Amino acid sequence: MLDKIKALREEIASVVASDKEEVEQLRIKYLSKKGAVSALMADFRNVPAELKREVGQKINELKTFATDRINSLKDSFAVADDPGIADMDLTRTASPVALGTRHPLSIVQNEMLRIFAGMGFTIAEGPEIEDDWHVFESLNFPPDHPARDMQDTFFISRDPADILLRTHTSSVQTRVMEHAQPPIRIVCPGRVYRNEAISARAHCFFHQIEGLYIDKNVSFADLRQVLLGFARQMFGPETKIRLRPSYFPFTEPSAEMDISCDICGGKGCAFCKGTGWVEILGCGMVDPNVLKACGIDPEVYSGYAFGMGIERITNLKYKVKDLRLFSENDVRFLREFEAAH
Ligand code: PHE
Repeated sequence: MLDKIKALREEIASVVASDKEEVEQLRIKYLSKKGAVSALMADFRNVPAELKREVGQKINELKTFATDRINSLKDSFAVADDPGIADMDLTRTASPVALGTRHPLSIVQNEMLRIFAGMGFTIAEGPEIEDDWHVFESLNFPPDHPARDMQDTFFISRDPADILLRTHTSSVQTRVMEHAQPPIRIVCPGRVYRNEAISARAHCFFHQIEGLYIDKNVSFADLRQVLLGFARQMFGPETKIRLRPSYFPFTEPSAEMDISCDICGGKGCAFCKGTGWVEILGCGMVDPNVLKACGIDPEVYSGYAFGMGIERITNLKYKVKDLRLFSENDVRFLREFEAAH
């Protein structure tokens, strides 16, 4: 009897099955009521009394062993049955992962910052949600100046002080000047907001880069030279610039700068409205009132500031005419800039 048990145990230990169906056959063969293990139980009656204890124990052990063996065979097919794993072809080439591209405004902004960094400017940033003092008051805007009008500015709250979305990056000028003494030489990139209807030529938000240089003996000629250097590095060494008198509350004198039209080379086209020139920025010598408001002595120091739209520069550089393309995230548009960075 003990030999029979041992032989059956060895047999069960070596069985194999190639699918679930065969495992079931094995279960019937060994563990069902008419199976080999049950047959041993039936024989048990004939075992002499003094051996019953030992044989009974061995038969129980065999039963547990057989049950475990059949269950583990069953489990191995449960995994292989999962279609996700069984049907996976591990030799197949993986599908390519599409890489994103840098946004055209980021490409142009990085290029602009690189050029100014080469001329000694460091980068400063300020908040998009601002107070009236940094956006208007410190920049010499009279209390009734039209730029404070609800038409242009998104106000967030009017109590206790006006909180608003900055309308220009000039607010970063005063953010820096109120805590630092000259020499100050910074460029400030960032998003600005204006309450305008969205069209091809206007948007309720866009991006600017502000420049500020404050030191002893800074002149308008220094400003002109820096802007000429920028225009030529950005648009090519043949680029011409022209400064026209203008007005900003925070600069005196003030000017707007045009560059020779990059699209027609100055001959006159639809983009430059036949003039051969396109406006790209506002600039001027920092008004003494602005320096005073920030605790800088205008008798000792002077400086210049300029500000330009990154969308405008990108329009020119990549001939993008519709501003809305920059914020719609159409991948067909964005992919066109794959090679540009
Ligand atoms: N802040 C002005 C604008 O948004 C641009 C500017 C900046 C003009 C600095 C002069 C000096 O139009």
